[in-house]
Parts: sequence; C-alpha cells; structure tokens
Amino acid sequence: MGYAEVYREWQNDPEAFWMAQADAIDWDRAPSKALFDDNAPLYEWFKDAQVNTCWNAVDRHVEAGRGAQTAIIYDSPVTDTMRHISYAELQGEVASLAGALAGKGIVSGDRVIIYMPMVPEALVAMLACARIGAVHSVVFGGFAANELAVRIDDATPKAVIAGSCGIEPGRVVEYKPLLDGAIELASHKPDFCVVLQREEARASMVEGRDFDWHEMQQGVAPAPCVPVSGDHPAYILYTSGTTGAPKGVVRPTAGHLVALNWTMKNIYNVDPGEVFWAASDVGWVVGHSYICYAPLIAGNTTVVFEGKPVGTPDASTFWRVISDHKVKSFFTAPTAFRAVKRVDPKGAFMKGHDLSELRAIYLAGERADPDTIEWIEQLTGKPVYDHWWQTETGYTIAGNPAGLEALPVKIGSPTVAMPGYDVQILDEGGHEMPAGALGAIAVKLPLPPGTLPTLWNAEDRFRKSYLTAFPGYYETGDAGMKDEDGYLWIMARTDDVINVAGHRLSTGGMEEVLAGHKDVAECAVIGVADELKGQLPLGLLCLTDGVNRPHDEVVAEVVARVRDKIGPVAAFKLALVVDRLPKTRSGKILRGTIAAIADGREFKPPATIDDPAILDELTEALKTIGYPKT
Ligand code: COA
Ligand code: AMP
Repeated sequence: MGYAEVYREWQNDPEAFWMAQADAIDWDRAPSKALFDDNAPLYEWFKDAQVNTCWNAVDRHVEAGRGAQTAIIYDSPVTDTMRHISYAELQGEVASLAGALAGKGIVSGDRVIIYMPMVPEALVAMLACARIGAVHSVVFGGFAANELAVRIDDATPKAVIAGSCGIEPGRVVEYKPLLDGAIELASHKPDFCVVLQREEARASMVEGRDFDWHEMQQGVAPAPCVPVSGDHPAYILYTSGTTGAPKGVVRPTAGHLVALNWTMKNIYNVDPGEVFWAASDVGWVVGHSYICYAPLIAGNTTVVFEGKPVGTPDASTFWRVISDHKVKSFFTAPTAFRAVKRVDPKGAFMKGHDLSELRAIYLAGERADPDTIEWIEQLTGKPVYDHWWQTETGYTIAGNPAGLEALPVKIGSPTVAMPGYDVQILDEGGHEMPAGALGAIAVKLPLPPGTLPTLWNAEDRFRKSYLTAFPGYYETGDAGMKDEDGYLWIMARTDDVINVAGHRLSTGGMEEVLAGHKDVAECAVIGVADELKGQLPLGLLCLTDGVNRPHDEVVAEVVARVRDKIGPVAAFKLALVVDRLPKTRSGKILRGTIAAIADGREFKPPATIDDPAILDELTEALKTIGYPKT
C-alpha cells in the first residue's frame, strides 16, 4: 500500500487503523478499543490496556531470542570511548537500577528527574523508571540550576538521577553543583539522589541524600516490569511556552508505544536489527523518541553519541559514525549540518568514510533551509527528508513516509500529513483556507495516539494554549500553508517561541530574566536570523530613569544573568540599550516589527503604531551592533 491508501485507510476508520497498529505491541491486557472520547475535547487512547514500556523496549527482544543483538552503541569522541551494549546486557542493567530505585521506595506513579549527559546510563535510567511505572522527567544538561529547580517544583520528584558532569568541547560542565543549587532553590525536596560518577569530574556527595549509582545497586534484586494502564504518564518533558514557566508535556504510555513503533518502519524505513542514529540529546523530545524509545521498541540498534558535529575532533565525525556503525537512517537538526558545512563546505572530511549502508537523512527541529538540504544531497547522494513535529506530539506530524512510499521531495516542505493527523490551515475565525494561503496550522481533534493528553498539573493551561483558539482543533503554534498537492510549508511561530540551534526557547522567559535586572525598566527579546543557529535571541533594554552607567556594563550583566538563570543553551549574547521600544497605541511592544528591522526584511509598520519615528531610531541603534547583517 502506498501513502495515499494508508492515509485514506486511517481517515475511513481511525479506530481500526490504530487497533491494527496496536497488534505490534506486547500487552499485559489488550485494549478493548482505541479511542476514549468521553472527556472530549480531552482524548485518550488505549486507556483500558495494561502494558509496560520497558518490556516492549527491552525484555521482549531478549525473550524473542535477540538478546545478543546490540541495543545501544555508545560512541563518545569526547571521552574516547566506544561501547556496545546488547539487549540482554541492557535488560540486566535496567532491571538492576530499577530494583535499586524500588528498594529506596520508588513506586508506580512517582516522579524521577533525570539530569544526565549523553551516556548510555541516561537511557538505562529512563528505562528503569518505565520498568517500575515511575514517571521520568529528563532535564537537558545545558539548563542552569534555576531551570532545574522550576522543574523540580513542578514535577515534585521523589528522586533525582544525575551524572556528575557533562563534557562540552573545551570544558567539563559539573552537573552536581547545579543539582545541589537547584535543590537548594526549590521548595520541593527530593528524598534522594543517585549520582553516576564520571572520572572527568567526580561529585561530592551529600551524606544520607546522595547515593552512588553502582554502590546503590549492590545486592539488590532486579525489578520485574510493572504493568501500568494505557493512560499512565510514561514521562513528563518540559518545553518552552510563551512565559518563563515551562510546559510539562505528558506522554501517555500506550499510545506512545503504538505510534512510535509505527514510525520506525513507515517513516524512518528501518527494520529490526538495523542501526538507527538520531544525533540529538536525551534532554529533548528527539532524544526521548528517537535515541531511546522508538528504536528500542522496534528492536533496532540505537547510537548514543556524546560529541558535536564539529570540533570533536573535526567535521568528519558524522561521516565516521555513520560508516563505523553502518547507520541505515540518520536524523539530526539542520543546524548541525550547517555547522559541518561551515568548516568543510567541499566535504573533504567525508573522504575514507563509507556511506554505502546509509539510506536517507532526516532533518527536524527547526526550518530546514533549502541551501543546507541541497548541500547534503549533493555531497552524500542520499535523499534528505525534512519532517515537522513538536515536543507535544512526540513524533512526525508531517513527513515523507519513506518506508511506505518515498514521495517526491519539494525542497522547503516537510511533505505531507502522516496518518493520524488531519492538518488544516485556518484563518483567524477558524475557517479552513484555500491551498496556497498562509494561516495558522491546526490539527483537527482528536490528535493521534502518543500525543499529549494534557500538561502536567496544568489542564487549564493545556486548554488555553492549544484548544481554545480554534474549537475542535489543536493549535500547533506554527503558521504556514498547504499547497495544491497537500504538501505543508512551515513558515513561522505564531507565539513568542524562538528556535536556536534546534532548541526551542521562550523569549518571554528571557524577558522575565532581563526585567529582573535592577537597572532595566523595560525590555523585549526577539529572535534574529542567524546563519548557523537559525535564530539567536537579541535583547533590547530601556534603562530606568536616572541610571547613567556605561551601557556595556549593563549588557554584560544581563548576558551573564540569562546564562546563570536559564543556562548556556539560551545562547543569549546580544543585547542593546535603547531609549524607547516601538509600541502600538495600546502599549503592546511590536516585536515582529523589531525582528523585521534587525533581519533587514521588508515590513509595513502596523497602522496602530504609536510613534513611527521610533523605528528610525531603532534602525540606527541596531546598526551599531551590526544588524541587519547584510
Ligand atoms: N550541557 C552543558 N552545556 C551545554 C550543553 C549540555 N548538554 N549543550 C550545549 N551546552 C552549551 C554549549 O557548550 C554552549 O556554551 P557556550 O556558550 O559556553 O559556548 C551553549 O550551551 C550553546 O550550545 P549550542 O547551541 O549547542 O551551541 P554550540 O556553539 O556549542 O554548537 C551546534 C552549535 C550547531 C554545533 C550545536 O548546537 C548542535 O550540534 N546542534 C544540534 C542540534 C540538536 O541536537 N538539536 C536537538 C533537536 S533535534
Ligand atoms: P520542539 O518542541 O522543540 O521540537 O520544537 C517544535 C517547533 O520547532 C515546531 O513547532 C516548529 O516551530 C519548529 N520545527 C520543528 N521541526 C520543524 C521543521 N521540520 N520545519 C520547520 N519548523 C520546525
């Protein structure tokens, strides 16, 4: 069957479609039906099933006689380590850690925060939680103590599992002082912490609260898989919204298993036993779905790569890993390839690396610019598939279903809606727009299995953020259009979220940090176009009357403040002091107009602008820091 037939099959009978996909999962109690709509517009899938994620990702492959197959390849150029972990070994490690966690009182439904670098133990920790029904929440290592504290207070974990450090090119990032700082800042205190000591920076331990990863497992009985109900949260993953308070996206267990399993063959075109590599981080949704869960559920070999596209040691790294491990499908963010292209535009570093096993390259996380796609295609001779999705969905909304039928690529479009998603372009009144017209991208409810049923502890925010603007639809927060062939084109966010090196960040959150500086009276943060990272945050500051300090000093302080409060991942390095900000007559800051000026894009000042003269002032001020770049 080709794409069109499968999509039609889903449209004609979504229940039957998803029940058929559910056959690929091992259930402790099979679901009686797929969709539960009694609480619409909140929907649930496979709710009355009993199932365990870890069983499906690990144990069942061992049971089926594939225990010797490699489950995880750990390739770490920053520590010069290479390790292969079989499914049987993974089962042993996961069951042992799960036993230790259970021994310390973790039971089904308890939350556990995981704050770890890209080491296989991060996956072991996630799977150990899943094994006993604990709900993990992985926090990206590039976030500062304050962000970790916010997540500790929202998720109220009984335990935190952390690595002692992460390794960034040129520096070791000690995680333990950040964790200690976060626990100090948070109102909620976890009962205990588990620390994986790494030789690059051993952590000091708090007596009675902190336990060594290995010592804690000595003499404990391995834990069996605990079945949970289909709607049990598999995990919470915090992502950026309009304000500084992150949204805790809840991932439902059963739908997650069914949907992710479907994607591995149909989208990523890999069969069990084949090697799949997503070069991302376990702290992001790509890492959850495509470093950890989906490849393991489908019985693939997944690569845990601890390094960067360039500088670890050089721009050959991607090609080396693909060739060394015979990767069949490779997935990363466009920014990673832009980094490679910048230092090696002719592909000299590809020499000597055999890419013959590689079938295709998948890009997501941010807009894939045509130059980068064409460069990758020409250099590798492989198809490059852009696909569009979000933390909220956990897997592809629109993509090229290469394992089902590779559709013609239109460069700049992530191709078409996947089965499960009825994607529509809506005008402000919620009416579907004709082909080629730009509007808000929305998905007709219900969303498919595995997508977020709600936000952790925040059902009202869930309804307001996603379900209120267009009743009967899920609002994606992206704007774009659909062409006459049904291909989607993703143009921009409709909210204050920006995308920096494939990382989703809230400008509202950064504004809150800037506004907290004693000399800042008012501020705005916008995303400016950046050749490497796609976007970079730029802060405009108006100082409090009477403050006469050198602007450079204030700028340096706010830059340090964002790094300290949000973390290095915010990449906030640009700020400018201005006299006034452009606003509408009702006082709304014209962030879109500021961004257009900074990018040198054409724009029409809105009719509601209070004082158009500010735009000339702003244009001059931006020139002093080199914007627009052209
Ligand atoms: N722990 C601690 N610090 C981290 C970190 C981590 N896990 N990850 C990143 N940082 C730090 C970096 O060291 C850097 O700090 P600096 O300001 O001192 O240099 C800062 O956060 C910004 O990091 P990053 O955005 O990664 O920029 P970079 O210049 O180090 O690298 C790229 C640029 C393009 C190579 C890199 O962003 C990349 O590989 N991106 C891939 C995107 C990706 O995986 N996206 C996930 C969704 S698919
Ligand atoms: P995240 O939740 O971090 O995965 O970020 C999701 C957001 O990133 C989307 O809502 C888009 O704004 C953007 N995004 C992700 N993939 C793509 C893509 N292929 N093309 C354009 N934008 C994308």
